[in-house]
Amino acid sequence: MKLNIIAFSGSLRKESYTTKLIKAFQKSAPDGITVEIIDISNLPFINEDLENDLPQTVKDLHEKIKNADAILLATPEYNRSYSPVLKNAIDWGSRPEGTNMWDAKPAAVIGCSPYSLGGFGAVNHLRQVMLYVNLYTMQQPEFYLSNITDSMDEKGNITKPETQKFIDDFWQAFVKWIEKFIQ
Ligand SMILES: Cc1cc2nc3c(=O)[nH]c(=O)nc-3n(C[C@H](O)[C@H](O)[C@H](O)COP(=O)(O)O)c2cc1C
Repeated sequence: MKLNIIAFSGSLRKESYTTKLIKAFQKSAPDGITVEIIDISNLPFINEDLENDLPQTVKDLHEKIKNADAILLATPEYNRSYSPVLKNAIDWGSRPEGTNMWDAKPAAVIGCSPYSLGGFGAVNHLRQVMLYVNLYTMQQPEFYLSNITDSMDEKGNITKPETQKFIDDFWQAFVKWIEKFIQ
């Protein structure tokens, strides 16, 4: 089955672990699956005043979501929650009222951290919002990657076979999940 998945990193940092993790997922995607990483750095801050004449970047985001078979969100953890840039992208994808582009799209969420909790707090806050915008979010397996520098080199290559297996197993489950919604 051919699937077009769009992916979002919740970090704008150049050397972001979260973005490197998304790229590792992109590299590990099963045959037939394309993963496009969407740039969210140029979206304006959410502002209802802009809704009458939507900025082109928001229109582009809507188009990308509309054409995607599924969504993969990756987040860093900021003060036990997910990042504001990711929230901003989710909010724009859901607006103006009545044009929630996320509606009924299969989705998965992954988190990582250079510290010991692996983004658990971030992923769990994010799941709550994904529920509300009606992203059909895979519940299991969960994906938290703690102490990420132990599993990834500076270039973002996965250095631990267990971590690569974790990614591959997650993909298998995610593809099965997506297939439940796509005929
Ligand atoms: C505002 C802020 C809050 C943070 N809070 C947490 C946190 O709650 N838990 C955690 O594990 N790391 C926390 N960190 C550290 C991040 O995990 C770390 O900076 C990580 O590299 C960010 O992800 P990135 O590499 O994808 O940019 C925080 C960082 C920032 C900037």
